[in-house]
Amino acid sequence: MKINFLKNAMPKKGDLVVFAYENNRLSSFAKKVDTEMKGQLGRALTASRFKGKFGEFLSIPAPTGLNVNNVLLMGLGKPDELKELKLQQAGGKIMARLMTSGEEEISVAAEAIRKAEVSADEAAANIAYGAKLRRYRFDKYRTKETEDKKPSVLAFNVLCSAPSKAENLFAPMDKVADGVIFARDLVTEPGNVIYPESYVEHIRELSDLGVDVQVLGEDEMEELGMGALLGVGQGSASESHMVIMRWNGSDKKKAPLAFIGKGVTFDTGGISLKPGAGMEDMKFDMGGSASVVGLMKALAGRKAKVNVIGVVGLVENMPSGTAQRPGDVVTSMSGQTIEVINTDAEGRLVLCDALWYTQDRFKPKFMIDLATLTGAILVSLGQEYAGIFSDDDKLSEQLFKAGEEVGEGVWRLPIGPAYDELINSDIADMKNIGGRYAGSITAAQFLKRFTNDVPWVHIDIAGTAWKQKASDLAEKGATGYGVRLLDRFIRDNYED
Ligand code: BES
Ligand code: MN
Ligand code: ZN
Repeated sequence: MKINFLKNAMPKKGDLVVFAYENNRLSSFAKKVDTEMKGQLGRALTASRFKGKFGEFLSIPAPTGLNVNNVLLMGLGKPDELKELKLQQAGGKIMARLMTSGEEEISVAAEAIRKAEVSADEAAANIAYGAKLRRYRFDKYRTKETEDKKPSVLAFNVLCSAPSKAENLFAPMDKVADGVIFARDLVTEPGNVIYPESYVEHIRELSDLGVDVQVLGEDEMEELGMGALLGVGQGSASESHMVIMRWNGSDKKKAPLAFIGKGVTFDTGGISLKPGAGMEDMKFDMGGSASVVGLMKALAGRKAKVNVIGVVGLVENMPSGTAQRPGDVVTSMSGQTIEVINTDAEGRLVLCDALWYTQDRFKPKFMIDLATLTGAILVSLGQEYAGIFSDDDKLSEQLFKAGEEVGEGVWRLPIGPAYDELINSDIADMKNIGGRYAGSITAAQFLKRFTNDVPWVHIDIAGTAWKQKASDLAEKGATGYGVRLLDRFIRDNYED
């Protein structure tokens, strides 16, 4: 699908979308169209229940004299509530409605929204951004889809007063969307396609954008003493890897920001095997790493003025004759020993070595890790918010704000010494599970022990990386959660 920004003239083919606000106030382009239609739009309005609420549609076959096929009136609701995100959602709603309608071309008339102080070009860019995010589908493995179910839209035109301005505003959004899409692809690919060795090759693609990619194999990690991460991968036929991505968009002397991702390409649970029902979902257990990879792609794509390190631990958690056993004791890179009570609490074992390595090697300004870490976070927050865990109020607040702006919310949960006691072990420095209570928090306490007091936030995305239902900006399935959140967080707080 191609996105075009065009001068706001009446289009010559396809479907035309024009806006109305609450109480059926027509936008100025809608008024113009109504005049061209000899008042037919207004009549259709009175004859329907359309009220101009956000997301409402009224579709009218275009009368003779007009060159488009259908005129769709879309409600935008209250103009003073229209911020960037709402306009992105509007673009997404248009895409969701028309994507498979059979129509090949859609034109949307974007306009300045006065009360909200959004210019026509800003509106245009955000509508296009939302449409691009919502258009994404993973169709690679469908060979028999019937014609009428396939996406038909080839061109998405946004009409506005200054198309070249809109295009410039859209350019960085386009790159962020590419990062989101890359993350969604990686998460959706099944475990027989994305496993540690093949995943590495996908990440190497980032070097084309100027990202420095370094790969550690099992021998090197052995050398570094990463016994916790290696223990998780030891039952798999695929070699475990750690991939370090570097984007230097700022002064080399500036300490980098570091993002660390859990990349368990498939989580069977290991010897503490998960139940069979629903186990297929565990291909998404590399979601945290995909967000980090997608973020690096977004930052490099839009040439962000910031130094960022991305570190991902790539392992497959399998039961086999070589797999680690419950009760095994492993030594992490930090030197701390861990009693592996449950081989299914593997994410923290991967992250602990990745976190220690990152702070040790890069002395970052702060570390933020992302992981599909606990089922318990779904119990606490469902699929709406990701959980964040941190001692750092400033970072937590900055993340919360960025989340609100982009619609990828985070909600802070407590950590503290009383929870920390729950992971003390009888025979090692700690155990890898804390018992029935506060499962997401004890996982965070575990990670905290490997941060070496570097400012740190843990984001548990087990509830948000994959959605059962479509949203305005994503088809159901992989969301790419985290890419837009962190891109915004960086843009608002850490770029030159
Ligand atoms: N990858 C899972 C977390 C998960 C579970 C995400 C369900 C989404 C849905 C993680 O490795 C895991 O298995 N965690 C265990 C921890 C437990 C053994 C302490 C869990 O949450 O059940
Ligand atoms: Mn697990
Ligand atoms: Zn897992």
